[in-house]
Amino acid sequence: MKRILIALLAVLMMAPAWADEGMWLPVLIGQRIKDMRAKGFKLKAEDVYSVNKACLKDAVVLFGSGCTGELVSGEGLLFTNHHCGYSQIQRHSSVEHDYLKDGFWAMSRDQELPNRGLTVSFLEYMQDVTDAVLKGYSEGMTERQRDSVIKVNSQGLVAEAVKEGKGLRANVEALFYGNQYFLFVFRTFRDVRLVGAPPSSIGKFGGDTDNWMWPRHTGDFSIFRIYADKDNNPADYSEDNVPYQPKKFFKISRKGVKEGDFTFVYGCPGSTKEYVTSDEVEYTGNVSDPKKIALRTKRLDIMKKYMAQSQAVRIQYSSKAANVSNAWKKWQGEEKGIRRMKTVDKKKEYQERFKQWAKGTRYDGLVERLEALYAKRNPYFLAYEYYNETVRSIELLQIASGMLNVLKNKKAKDAAVEAFFKDYYQPIDEEIFVAMMKAFDDEMPDEFKPDYFKQMLKQYGSVEAWRKDLFSKSMFTDKEKVLALTKEDSEQIKKDPAYVLYEAFYQWYFKELRPVINDVNSQIRLAYRDYMKGQMEFEPQKQFYPDANLTLRIAYGNVKGYSPADGIYYSPVSTLKGIIEKDNPDIFDYNIPQTLRDIYAEGGHDAQPVCFLATNHTTGGNSGSPVINADGNLVGINFDRVWEGTMSDIVYDPSVCRNISLDIRYLLFNIEHIGHAAYLFDEMVFAD
Ligand code: ARG
Ligand code: ASP
Repeated sequence: MKRILIALLAVLMMAPAWADEGMWLPVLIGQRIKDMRAKGFKLKAEDVYSVNKACLKDAVVLFGSGCTGELVSGEGLLFTNHHCGYSQIQRHSSVEHDYLKDGFWAMSRDQELPNRGLTVSFLEYMQDVTDAVLKGYSEGMTERQRDSVIKVNSQGLVAEAVKEGKGLRANVEALFYGNQYFLFVFRTFRDVRLVGAPPSSIGKFGGDTDNWMWPRHTGDFSIFRIYADKDNNPADYSEDNVPYQPKKFFKISRKGVKEGDFTFVYGCPGSTKEYVTSDEVEYTGNVSDPKKIALRTKRLDIMKKYMAQSQAVRIQYSSKAANVSNAWKKWQGEEKGIRRMKTVDKKKEYQERFKQWAKGTRYDGLVERLEALYAKRNPYFLAYEYYNETVRSIELLQIASGMLNVLKNKKAKDAAVEAFFKDYYQPIDEEIFVAMMKAFDDEMPDEFKPDYFKQMLKQYGSVEAWRKDLFSKSMFTDKEKVLALTKEDSEQIKKDPAYVLYEAFYQWYFKELRPVINDVNSQIRLAYRDYMKGQMEFEPQKQFYPDANLTLRIAYGNVKGYSPADGIYYSPVSTLKGIIEKDNPDIFDYNIPQTLRDIYAEGGHDAQPVCFLATNHTTGGNSGSPVINADGNLVGINFDRVWEGTMSDIVYDPSVCRNISLDIRYLLFNIEHIGHAAYLFDEMVFAD
């Protein structure tokens, strides 16, 4: 009996990962397609990824530098999340035209709003280039030599890949810590215009209160259009540009989803660390997350206080506060999840088994090496994280430090200055300065404080006195003075107390922290290259997927609820009824537009679907990703995960890790009833 049990256990342990864990490379779809089809998917591998024929990948883009978007018409129409288009919507907003508050709907092409700096990138193809990248490398070389071999070879590959021009760009990315290299070739479009966005009371319904949570009722979408030159190639914004004709776009399914249905998310997850040791997890869960959470709580409290007092300040700081609070809340879920999963202990136990197995092999002593490296790195890295979360969060220092770089170009400089002051409220910045500097002083050990910082505290006696002097003497609080700066003024800038302060901290980081961190990190990376390879040999049956790195991936699973705590079960679909239940004119996050109340009152919309949960393994960057059904049609837009599962960047728990998607039918509902922009349906194709 016992023997059978052990055998059974061994088989279970070797089973290919957990059912729905994994962010797979599209080019290796061949290795997954059988499993996907077994779970309900009906298309073929080449429908998902192919270099020879138009396929689903051609309808997916990297939106901006950290989101995903999908094409939904032959005329360049694109869906992404409201929070992905947020800064564009915000930049077009003012107290008179408050598109954040009221929404924005172009009623014709000429009303679509251009967005400087916004790009979208299509993946042309990806290719395993490990051999070409490592050509000329031999085992005996130092890391330095290896890096330079890789650099030279990669440059050659990239140059060859983009030689046609026409918006092509390419990069070589290390996967599995440099056990494998892939070339990614993209075509990047630079004229992307805003077509529509719901009011924030829909697009950000639930705000930071509901963020990372279920039940969720956020209409998190915005609509853009890609423009190209007359030959359908990428071009800078021009009135002469025309809507881009994509190779492929998604058909929209109005069939909806129900528990158990197959779903597939095609997008660009940003970063995960699934194969790290217990030391890394311990640092994240017990040190980094809690400390950063505490610092951000202080900043957020200050912003919220002033935002509650004035509508103008609320507009100015809404995007900033959302950014600060997003990671703040995620870290809280992550920290809890790591603890609940006992990930540190489980990794330790795994490492013990690995060590036994590794005895006498080239992997012997690796885990111990990593442990020593982390012990050396962590205090420096924590100081660096403090530098980021404190000094670098002070806006006065941000404008002061950026000025020298933009000074040469008067037009660009003035635009940057205008943009900065449009959203600057000095009392917030002053209070944050005091709170952050005090925290830095209280929480950093003395040997991790820059001399300049100690000197200033001594000279002024208190952070308060320092604040007063700094904000009254620096010219960077005065828009007119900053606008008047010319390229002759660099010496004057360098004497400004805000610049001096920033520079002192930067130099400290640059000289004291960075060299150690970089040096140890490169040793850590090297050790992980071996450790990764070792783990693959240690568990030959397991199917490994590379950590996310903002390259295109496939995650598949099914629509599924979960139990967040004993006695509670969350069903996977939310409806308009839930919005009405939450609606409360006195609570900013839950105050829906009157139109929505009226529509609901007319009756018949109780069951209007809004969001749904599924088991797709996603992370930051997957926002805006198409959620695709078994037939390959668009049923949703991914935008979040549930709080209890945010440790999935480190460890995936199939019982609680869920992605949250907007039901595409709620987007259609909004176009029709809120935006009165049903003309947009004419260019979409509905599969059912
Ligand atoms: N949590 C989601 C993601 O990480 C959505 C963030 C935007 N929403 C917000 N309320 N801050 O991007
Ligand atoms: N909300 C995230 C994003 O913006 C997605 C996630 O972390 O699940 O990409």
